[in-house]
Amino acid sequence: MSSALRFGIAPAVTATTAPPIPKAREWATSYLASNPELPLLDLSQGVPGDPPDETVLAALAKASSDPRSAKYGSILGEIELREALAEEFNVQYGVGSSSSSSGRKSSKLSAQDIGITTGCNMAFLVLVMALCPPSTSSVLLPLPAYFNHSMVMTMQSVKPLYIPCEPESGFRPSISAARDHLETAKGQSEGSTRPRMICLVTPNNPTGAVYSPRELEDWYDLAKEFEVALVLDETYRDFVDGPPHHLFDREDWRETLVSLGSFSKGYRIPGHRLGSIVASPDLLRHLATVCDCMQICAPRPPQIALASLLPSLRVSLTASSVALQSRHRLFTEIITSIPGWQVVSQGGFYAYVAFPEDYKTASSALGRKRKSLGSEDVAKVLSLQCGVLTLPGSFFCPSGEELEALEGAGTEQLREDKWLRFAIANVDDEAVRQLGPRLHKMNGIMGFGEEVVVVDD
Ligand SMILES: Cc1ncc(COP(=O)(O)O)c(C=O)c1O
Repeated sequence: MSSALRFGIAPAVTATTAPPIPKAREWATSYLASNPELPLLDLSQGVPGDPPDETVLAALAKASSDPRSAKYGSILGEIELREALAEEFNVQYGVGSSSSSSGRKSSKLSAQDIGITTGCNMAFLVLVMALCPPSTSSVLLPLPAYFNHSMVMTMQSVKPLYIPCEPESGFRPSISAARDHLETAKGQSEGSTRPRMICLVTPNNPTGAVYSPRELEDWYDLAKEFEVALVLDETYRDFVDGPPHHLFDREDWRETLVSLGSFSKGYRIPGHRLGSIVASPDLLRHLATVCDCMQICAPRPPQIALASLLPSLRVSLTASSVALQSRHRLFTEIITSIPGWQVVSQGGFYAYVAFPEDYKTASSALGRKRKSLGSEDVAKVLSLQCGVLTLPGSFFCPSGEELEALEGAGTEQLREDKWLRFAIANVDDEAVRQLGPRLHKMNGIMGFGEEVVVVDD
């Protein structure tokens, strides 16, 4: 069968990096096909290891079998879910419980501030389409960056203004580097690209870095000063101790802030595809135009199922968050016991881990001639030979000329390409314990320390 097409593909799409997860999946498939004695430890894509709550499963079954949910619904979501989610934000962020600088109690979020989308990825795409005219826009994005955000930039012909982050600062983006970008752009002539938003992910994917409420206040002030949107991707907000920030208490938050969310991680229903946008109704009405063309409405059964359950699920969210924090501690204990391995930052679903420096020059141990190995080589060997599937740091950084062109503190370290992302929410504590002998084995393969025999216990 010929694979040639008699029509063209849009250049912005062909220029976009291919989805990286399937590449990692292929390594897993090869490992499983070689009949390994040890089970695969999959710490790659950020997927909750536990199934959804029993009450959610039952409500989903009921809502799916109701013929009414097979009809189209409202563009920005079921009003009952929007109301319930507004209340969840009010509780989680303590909105309206403290007084603002003017001494007045801030107003609570309402359904009018909420839009429901087909997942958070779609929310981000919709937002970029609505705020960033192609070819004349730029977006500030800390590096390492969530790959789908970078992909959206290329696909929409929006220029990413990357802010390389340093491991020493726990991969926190420098606000002064961001200010420099914004000042430079201000001084540029008409026709140059114009910054339209600062996009921060907290807790971060891939580094796990959690930005404090105080830091987020500074980012808000910067965005407000330069009249760009502050977009927070808060997909992992349920895995933070205490309120993630107090920005909703600001009287003027609707003028600058947009918060994107997901039901995939906290409520553990990634396959049901539900996300959210908290923003000014003045913005949401424009987003509705884009959403109408893209989704008409988000899937109705999960919206109907969750609407009345949200308050009752708070206990389950807290329990998952506490369990994950304890797994982070166990993970650090295991990783730091392996020679040469180091947890550089962690939080939310992820830990960002440096493999031993010596791996970079260990190509001869793998029978290769290449001078230097990078994170993708290491992730592949770890998966094919040790059955541990992670994502290489290179998936979260630009490559080639784009990487070469980066400037500023943190750039050199990013070029060293020496990290792996472990999605520790995917697995249970026992799987984390099994990492120890597997990483010892990896050290042996790479000629770093003794190779040990791994037994499945
Ligand atoms: C930062 C971030 N945003 C968005 C998403 C996608 O969320 P959803 O499943 O709601 O589309 C993910 C998933 O890993 C993510 O890490």
